Amino acid sequence: MRTAVLPVAGWGTRFLPVTKAVPKEMLPIVDRPCLAYVVAEAVASGVDQIVLVTARGKTAMEDYFDRSPALEQVLEAGGKRELLAEVQAVARHATVISVRQQEQRGLGHAVLMAAPVIGDNDFAVMLPDDIVDGRDFGQGGVDDPALAQILRVHAQTGGVVVTLKEVPRADTRRYGICAGSFVQPNRMNIDRMVEKPKPEEAPSNFSIVGRYVLPASIFDLLRAQAPGAIGEIQLTDALAVYAARGQATGVVFTGTHFDTGNPVGLLDANLHFALHHPTLGAAAQAVVAKYR
Ligand code: G1P
Repeated sequence: MRTAVLPVAGWGTRFLPVTKAVPKEMLPIVDRPCLAYVVAEAVASGVDQIVLVTARGKTAMEDYFDRSPALEQVLEAGGKRELLAEVQAVARHATVISVRQQEQRGLGHAVLMAAPVIGDNDFAVMLPDDIVDGRDFGQGGVDDPALAQILRVHAQTGGVVVTLKEVPRADTRRYGICAGSFVQPNRMNIDRMVEKPKPEEAPSNFSIVGRYVLPASIFDLLRAQAPGAIGEIQLTDALAVYAARGQATGVVFTGTHFDTGNPVGLLDANLHFALHHPTLGAAAQAVVAKYR
């Protein structure tokens, strides 16, 4: 597996007005943009090519992953070696390719925009609103990025693999929901997938979190796909075809998950990563203590 597609074309309406001028994926978690956490997870999982499916007005993301010669010169002249190394490392993470989604017609449509880059290969999709800290913090397990977990399953099963998480029944209308049979404590053979069902119509309470491994054959389905939930071309509707054929697996992943697609979720992620930060952790503890 080499390529991960990151759909980053959204307006970020839940973060207006800041997203008038700053892509929501560039909002910070402590000292780096949300997007950097997702790219770091991709790289730690063996991905070396990132495809950003972006939109006009959001070039800050491409700039972030580019070199910055003027800044590097200033840091060099000022003897700021550690900062210089950090800034240069960002650009070395992975090859970043961007394609534009000219109109926003849904997640399935966004993924389809990556088709010319992907060719015939299996690929990953990562939704940057979903941030997963794969560190175990000495709980007796191992550090394990969420994407790596589904790539390992994909190496065994082929087909579609998605990350799953149990959600309260009342929240099913916010997610893609999967149902099927558990063949291992954390592994579901999925036979049904529904996008954003009402709680009374949801076939389970296992939601898709934004990590997918997909075959390139998905593009043909997406090209033919009619709009579904909320009038958009839904990735889940194309995945449902694989589920019906017995070719989709769900993995209830380990790790700490944050939905940074809303301000409170972003605050939650900031507190988590600040409290666990190698140099800022103690100062963050003191700040949090003020509010107890
Ligand atoms: C998207 C997917 C949904 C998935 C969710 C995870 O929904 O369509 O299936 O459960 O991401 O974050 P969105 O959050 O774009 O509404």
